[in-house]
Amino acid sequence: MTDAPDRPDRAEPSQYFAPQPATASARVVARLSLPDLDVGLITDRGVFARGRVDTGTKLLLLDGPPPIDGDRHLVDLGAGYGPIAIAIARRNPAATVWAVEINERARALCRENADALGLANVEVVAPDAVPGDLVVDRIWSNPPIRIGKPALRSLLSGWLGRLGPGGSGHLVVQKHLGADSLQRWLTEQGWPTGRRASRAGYRLLDVEAAGQTADGSADR
Ligand SMILES: C[S@@+](CC[C@H](N)C(=O)[O-])C[C@H]1O[C@@H](n2cnc3c(N)ncnc32)[C@H](O)[C@@H]1O
Repeated sequence: MTDAPDRPDRAEPSQYFAPQPATASARVVARLSLPDLDVGLITDRGVFARGRVDTGTKLLLLDGPPPIDGDRHLVDLGAGYGPIAIAIARRNPAATVWAVEINERARALCRENADALGLANVEVVAPDAVPGDLVVDRIWSNPPIRIGKPALRSLLSGWLGRLGPGGSGHLVVQKHLGADSLQRWLTEQGWPTGRRASRAGYRLLDVEAAGQTADGSADR
C-alpha cells in the first residue's frame, strides 16, 4: 500500500460505480484529516478517489450540519471506501449509519475501515439490502453524478422519499456538474433545497424532507 494516489478519478471514470470492478486490486492509504478526526483509510483501484479524500467529500464533512440529538438513522448514499460514513458515525455514536454502496470492493473497504476504527454503528449495505421500511433522519452524500442525470434523479428521489418528518439531505455537487440545476429540480419535486455553502467549485446543498412547513414541522 505504498504507491502514489491516482489522479482525480477521471483515471477510471466508468469503473468506480460498477458493482464489481474489473481492475486488479492495488490498495493505498488515504488520510482523512478533519478538526475532529484524523485517520488513515484504505482505498483501492476501481473505487472512487483512490489514495485521497475527494475535495467535495472534505468540504461536506467540514461544512455539513452538526449532529442532531435524537437522530437514529443516518445514510451515506454512495459510501465508497467510507470517509463520510466513518466521520458521521464517529460524530453520532448513538445513531446507526447506513453506508449504502453499489460497488462490492468499496463495500469491503468501508467495512474494513469502520472495523479498524471500532465503529460498530456503521452498517455497510448494498442498495438492495436496505430494509424496505427504513425511515431516515439524515442523508449525507457525495452522489454519483457520473451515472447520468436520469439515474441520479431516480436514486435521489428514492432516498429522499425515505426521510421522516424533520429529516434532511446534505449533498455536495460540483457546480460544473450541474449542482444548480439539481437544486432547482429537487425544489420543483417538493424537496425544498437551499445552498449551505459554495466553495472551490462545489455547492453544498441542504434538502428538506417533503411536506415540511418553514418551521420544519410536517404539514401532511
Ligand atoms: C462520488 S462517489 C463518493 C464516494 C464516497 N462517499 C467518497 O466521498 O469518497 C459516489 C459513490 O456512489 C456509488 N454508487 C453509484 N451508484 C450507486 C447506487 N445506485 N447506490 C449506491 N451507491 C452508488 C459509487 O460506486 C461511488 O462509490
